[in-house]
Amino acid sequence: PVIRREDYSPPDWLVPDISLDFRLGAERTIVRATLQVRRNGSHRRPLLLNSEVEAIHRVTLNGEPVNYWYEDQVLRVPIEGESATVETEVRIAPRANTQLMGLYESNAMLCTQCEAQGFRRITPFPDRPDVLSRYKLRMSGDKALYPVLLANGDLVASGEGEGGTHWAEWHDPFPKPCYLFAMVAGDLVANRDTFTTMSGRKVDLGIWVRAGDLPKTAHAMASLKAAMKWDEEVYGREYDLDIFNIVAVDDFNFGAMENKGLNIFNSRYVLADPDTATDADYDAIAGVVAHEYFHNWSGDRVTCRDWFQLSLKEGFTVFRDQSFSADMGSHAVKRIEDVKMLRAAQFPEDAGPLAHPVRPDSYIEISNFYTATVYNKGAEVIRMMHTILGPERFRAGTDLYFSRHDGQAVTCEDFVKAMEDASGVDLSHFRLWYSQAGTPRIKARLVNRTEGVHVALEQEVPPTPGQPVKQPMPIPLRIALLDEATGRPTDERLIVLDKASDEIALDGAPARPVLSINRDFSAPVIVETDRSAVDLAFLSAHDDDPFARYEAMQQLMLDTLTAAVSTGGADHAPVIEAVRQTLTDANLDPAFIAEAVLLPSESFIGDRMAVVDPEAIRARREALRADLGRTLEPLWRDAYRAHVANRYAYNPAAKGARRLKTIALGYIAATGAPDAAALAKRQYDESDNMTDRQGALGVLVNGYSAERDAALQAFYERYRTNGLVLDKWFTTQALSTRDDVLDQVEALAGHPDFTLANPNRLRSLVAAFSVNQRAFHDASGRGYRFLADMILAEDKLNPQTAAKLVPPLGRWRRFDEGRAALMRAELERMVATPGLSKDVFEQASKSLA
Ligand code: ARG
Ligand code: ZN
Repeated sequence: PVIRREDYSPPDWLVPDISLDFRLGAERTIVRATLQVRRNGSHRRPLLLNSEVEAIHRVTLNGEPVNYWYEDQVLRVPIEGESATVETEVRIAPRANTQLMGLYESNAMLCTQCEAQGFRRITPFPDRPDVLSRYKLRMSGDKALYPVLLANGDLVASGEGEGGTHWAEWHDPFPKPCYLFAMVAGDLVANRDTFTTMSGRKVDLGIWVRAGDLPKTAHAMASLKAAMKWDEEVYGREYDLDIFNIVAVDDFNFGAMENKGLNIFNSRYVLADPDTATDADYDAIAGVVAHEYFHNWSGDRVTCRDWFQLSLKEGFTVFRDQSFSADMGSHAVKRIEDVKMLRAAQFPEDAGPLAHPVRPDSYIEISNFYTATVYNKGAEVIRMMHTILGPERFRAGTDLYFSRHDGQAVTCEDFVKAMEDASGVDLSHFRLWYSQAGTPRIKARLVNRTEGVHVALEQEVPPTPGQPVKQPMPIPLRIALLDEATGRPTDERLIVLDKASDEIALDGAPARPVLSINRDFSAPVIVETDRSAVDLAFLSAHDDDPFARYEAMQQLMLDTLTAAVSTGGADHAPVIEAVRQTLTDANLDPAFIAEAVLLPSESFIGDRMAVVDPEAIRARREALRADLGRTLEPLWRDAYRAHVANRYAYNPAAKGARRLKTIALGYIAATGAPDAAALAKRQYDESDNMTDRQGALGVLVNGYSAERDAALQAFYERYRTNGLVLDKWFTTQALSTRDDVLDQVEALAGHPDFTLANPNRLRSLVAAFSVNQRAFHDASGRGYRFLADMILAEDKLNPQTAAKLVPPLGRWRRFDEGRAALMRAELERMVATPGLSKDVFEQASKSLA
């Protein structure tokens, strides 16, 4: 059944209060719920409760047995009066819960995940985000197995029970939708700390992990406190309960969850120390801890009316976490990372069969819509409002949004309205960003008119499924001109292109102007210009906007590589010169240099071609890499030597140095220098941190050397009992550029440490492999078959995680007929499989359409 946004209607029954009683057990848990319900409106319809539990033991209405009716996973209770007390008793089975939605067991701990629709797997309830309730909960269980009992809100009582049990009662004073419900029972220890809010309230913080992991929680705690402070300073948002807890769980479907007062995290976004976590892991932990914390306002205090509004909380919260991370480190590098991510995950989504607007119009399974479009393009939409309004008016808008809608379940429209009302700026046209899918393409060029220099702009929004014809979008473009003679920029200005085409005069243009456009990536669009290799090389050396400077280099590399792929060869000299300039520019931050000198990924090159040719892309890209390596070899060796002896520290400068060092090592290896493997192995052996070790392994894994095999073996032996690190071992091998990677990936799927039961492990091999463009798109179709087999196997355990793996097969239109047919055949095989989940069915069938 397809759910449509336009079919929304308010809930028939409200549930202002609920109390829950859990008798916990891994095999069976008994859940009693008491719902105070109130009729909403003047209809005569029964109370409908979603229910996907093991067994319904009892339902009563105002204390009396009631003739209820259960069909299609909905429990119907006829009610005469305007309000009533409904009690249910049900049984659930946490250990058998392989979907990891609802209450489930992970490493002997019991924990919950309810967003989007997991609460109905715990107890019968109107499982929709616009039903807000005050929760009281009592849980009891074996004290030895579950010494720690946590839930949302405040702990109000606890004590000992019979037969070695104990119990705890938690009350959450803030009305919330059931998707924010959480509880945890387990043998856990806490890193405890406190935070004093801006109004002087003391909050007890706890990060709960298994005993041995306690030393790995310091970074998450520091990140949490920094995020709490930042949200007060930048958004004026203060924390509202006396307790804030985070629990780390090894088996988790995605990153983390913002349950009120009790965030539950995939352990990969909590646990870190220098020996086991890379710089990228540290950054991701800070970002995700902040993201979930920020949801306390953008998500919990103000929530979504229905799931079509998901970007209301996710787009906004991603924008907030991106801004936080930028403030904690380098704005330029963070912006580059965010744009790379958008281009790797969202642009392909927007260009394929699963394209959907930031506010989708329909779905079969909502968990398929936790996408890069809703999250990352949604964040770009918020960022564009920030750009158009400026920081002060944007902040006035968020203040109004939070005060107007506190305690409510609202829509994306309500957010935009608050921005308009607070700023006085009309955003009616801007709303198209919520409703139109597809990445706009802009053509920009400078033209000389008698009055002076103009920029001529055209836009086109491509057709997407269900949206064949598009209207022009309002596209905010930061623009400046650089003087080719002096390298100096003119004043930057913001142009909002809101027509199909337009021409705008640029005052004060220098005699030889070069166009710098979409500076800081002010709009999530693809820009085509007529800038020559000379112009791009000039910008890559002189643009005063760091993102535009990076972008000019990327464009130069892309132009060179796409020319090489289509003609079989291209002049590498402009790229090599530009890289030389950047590498030797003493004013640049090594972290920026590292990003700038990296070639665009194989898939990004493919995205810019009419028909993706994976072999040619690999070959031409490797040829340019080797040429860059050889021609600039002394510089790479200098860069390597400059940073090789650094002792580990976690700060932006040290991170940038590590990154540049390993990129230099990669270029040295690309030359084929005989000492490269030994150099990498020495880095592997002598480094005091995981960033360098994994970096060295990532270089070694692409070659054929005794050092490679020794390092892989050593890594495995050292870390075989640490799941998060072992994931890296799988991923590194899946991303190898060696020709035999398919054999290796198939062998790794049979490795004793590989399992479908743990989503991190599954993704570490299978999702990683599917972004290895050359290997996944092997002309034999073996990669496609491997992926489809994995999806079908996973679907039996965990449909939500299985469905996330489908999109790479949906890109078949972008490939030659032979590959397209093989990809379609796998999608068809999936769709024809009996017992397929609706999760995978939706993704696979839409991918074929
Ligand atoms: N709200 C969580 C977050 O972004 C993610 C929940 C994902 N849920 C899902 N069904 N995929 O912070
Ligand atoms: Zn979120």
